[in-house]
Amino acid sequence: MKMTNSTKLTILALTATIGVALAATAAAPIPPASPKTGVTYATDIKPILDQSCVKCHSGDKPKARLKLDTLEGVLKGSKDGKIITVGDSANSFVVKCITNTADDHDSWMPPLHNKANIGPLTAGQIGLIRAWIDQGAK
Ligand code: HEC
Repeated sequence: MKMTNSTKLTILALTATIGVALAATAAAPIPPASPKTGVTYATDIKPILDQSCVKCHSGDKPKARLKLDTLEGVLKGSKDGKIITVGDSANSFVVKCITNTADDHDSWMPPLHNKANIGPLTAGQIGLIRAWIDQGAK
């Protein structure tokens, strides 16, 4: 079959559209753990949680009964149980929450479009939290 130029152009346009659609649906990869060693709650993690989580996860009525302003609170977990699997960041619930990969979108943290206007964690911050969990959550 001899293709006209307009047929060729149509095929080209369709191929490009499909490519863009596929790229848009592919989930962003979870950022890798930071290579930093000696990561601790006090030095590396608390500042991140203070900035992006503690507004809702501290005080008398913390959301999901989860307190993130102390190491004890983080290790204790929420009304539903532990949020960290010590030594295994890839399987830690909190990492699924902050990378928006938890099955339940209500668990995506910080919540999308929250009134406090707190934005998502950066890949660098997620990497530090992963390294901290992998290194024993000290
Ligand atoms: C604007 C308020 C707000 C901020 C900011 C926020 N959270 Fe939450 N968080 C909530 C609410 C509300 C829930 C309960 C969601 C639900 O289950 O419906 C929740 C639930 C959670 C849960 C799930 C608890 C469970 O067992 O279901 C985790 C884990 C969590 N938050 C971690 C974080 C982390 C980490 C941050 C910071 C990166 C953060 N949150 C920031 C409001 C917030």
